[in-house]
Amino acid sequence: MSINSALQKARAAYQPKLPKALRSGNITVEFGAASAPATDQEAIKKLFPYTYGQAQAKFVSGDGTLTANPLKIGVVLSGGQAPGGHNVIAGLFDALKAANADSKLYGFLKGPGGIIKGKYQELTADFIDEYRNTGGFSMIMSGRDKIEKPEDLAACKANFEKMGLDGLVVIGGDDSNTNAAMLAEYLCAEKCPTRVVGVPKTIDGDMKNEQIEASFGFDTAARTYSELIGNICRDAQSAVKYWHFVRLMGRAASHVALECALQTQPNICLVSEEVQEKGITLNEIVDSIVDVVVKRADAGKNYGILLVPEGLLEFISDIKVMIEELSTILGKSEEYFEKINDHSERVQFLSNALTDHSARVYSSLPFGIQEVLLRRDSHGNVPLSQVETERLLIDLVSDKINLMKSQGQAENVKFSPLGHFFGYEGRCAFPSNFDADYCYSLGYAAAQLVRAGVTGYTANVQNLTKNSDEWVAGGTPVTMMLNMEMRKGKPTPVIKKALVDLNDKPFQYFAANRDNWAVNDEFVFPGPIQYFGPSEVCDAPTVTLALEKSVKCCCGK
Ligand code: FBP
Repeated sequence: MSINSALQKARAAYQPKLPKALRSGNITVEFGAASAPATDQEAIKKLFPYTYGQAQAKFVSGDGTLTANPLKIGVVLSGGQAPGGHNVIAGLFDALKAANADSKLYGFLKGPGGIIKGKYQELTADFIDEYRNTGGFSMIMSGRDKIEKPEDLAACKANFEKMGLDGLVVIGGDDSNTNAAMLAEYLCAEKCPTRVVGVPKTIDGDMKNEQIEASFGFDTAARTYSELIGNICRDAQSAVKYWHFVRLMGRAASHVALECALQTQPNICLVSEEVQEKGITLNEIVDSIVDVVVKRADAGKNYGILLVPEGLLEFISDIKVMIEELSTILGKSEEYFEKINDHSERVQFLSNALTDHSARVYSSLPFGIQEVLLRRDSHGNVPLSQVETERLLIDLVSDKINLMKSQGQAENVKFSPLGHFFGYEGRCAFPSNFDADYCYSLGYAAAQLVRAGVTGYTANVQNLTKNSDEWVAGGTPVTMMLNMEMRKGKPTPVIKKALVDLNDKPFQYFAANRDNWAVNDEFVFPGPIQYFGPSEVCDAPTVTLALEKSVKCCCGK
């Protein structure tokens, strides 16, 4: 028998907030003008003849034009866990039942693979109640399978037809929403009536644009890490003897690291996008860290906190080029390469296949990192959560300090580094009130998109820095968010990842303050997420969102 914690019991009673229009019994959809992607229009139009150019959708309270027929809807969780996934499903369920009590919701198990294999279960009210406002994806579990091969697409269609499914809601990140759009297009071409709608999920915060203000889970994950970082800042200030190097999850973009820096004001935070923009080399990064370590030691502070985004290596120009070359080689010689078991033989094969410069860069990296760089997930991504970048930096900084000491420099430095990785700790936290409300609203909006009979859309909820009453729900055609990128050596349509914009306010605020934070202890201690209490403590959006929307943040920024 499972035992619910006191918090879990209390949170079960929490009723997430909804935008006003979604609370109305007469929800109506309004469509805007035809949409187009910002780039690669012709290529995308050719690949998506059925779903290209659809109009943006917005839900308003009106004469209730959406269908009230009973619907059979499937839902799937795709990719990495993000706090709030269960609330998306709860919102979807409640919205479907509110429109017609005979509607049914089915959860596909263990991610998109469950759709291909036809593994699902009906999600009933009692079952869903167990998971309201809880973290994780354990209700139906997740997976990273990609529905791509013709036989997988055909299997999905056959399963949908067997189930008589009116719609499928895919809760996933940029890759999964892209995949959902491809499935939507395929089903249209095959005259299968199942509509496909996506929901923007990822703690990485990189699935956002003018229509999608934030991906869900980012708020809770960044707050969870910030609590821990704040605690470490306090410990560092108390023990006065350790330098903490903290790697933060977020596969490519540095949003998580930047948000944590804005919440806690550490001594150093590396931002991958800046490294790329300025062409900063690994040696230069190490020099800049050593510079701060020496300055602080000279001020009597042999301690500090550094944040590093997990994607850093991919943004250092020569490593990036090398990884792209590796992807092309692995894409072309996948089968052959998989048969080579011996590491030195792999390195030998790659040294011949890579350009000379990339071969040198590859062989300069430690064995563990070399091995991880050879792995790809089903979407062609390097599993960067397995690269110990904080260790690499600690080693390189230690080497440099030892060299300086041997030359009679850095005499005040006593460098005792400790490495941390905060990633999986944050992905299944109890969703903050923001994520609980936002996710429930997204699920509700996804249900309305299916009721509106559209396909190839991602649900959105806008105006997120305002009171939830003023939130506006709708849908964005996925083709509008696509661009063409090289994946496994081939041009492929994908939703454009939103990286940290160096000209936008979150980075600008950080850049204007970081020199002060480096030397002086300006740490901020956010403490744990609060679920009960004053709204400014419990419901505030992230600092990133507040700065992006130019509203005053609860911390005064
Ligand atoms: P999504 O892009 O699927 O949301 O996953 C994000 C993430 O948590 C990254 O931050 C991390 O690099 C990766 O997943 C880890 O993947 P895995 O769960 O396969 O270890």
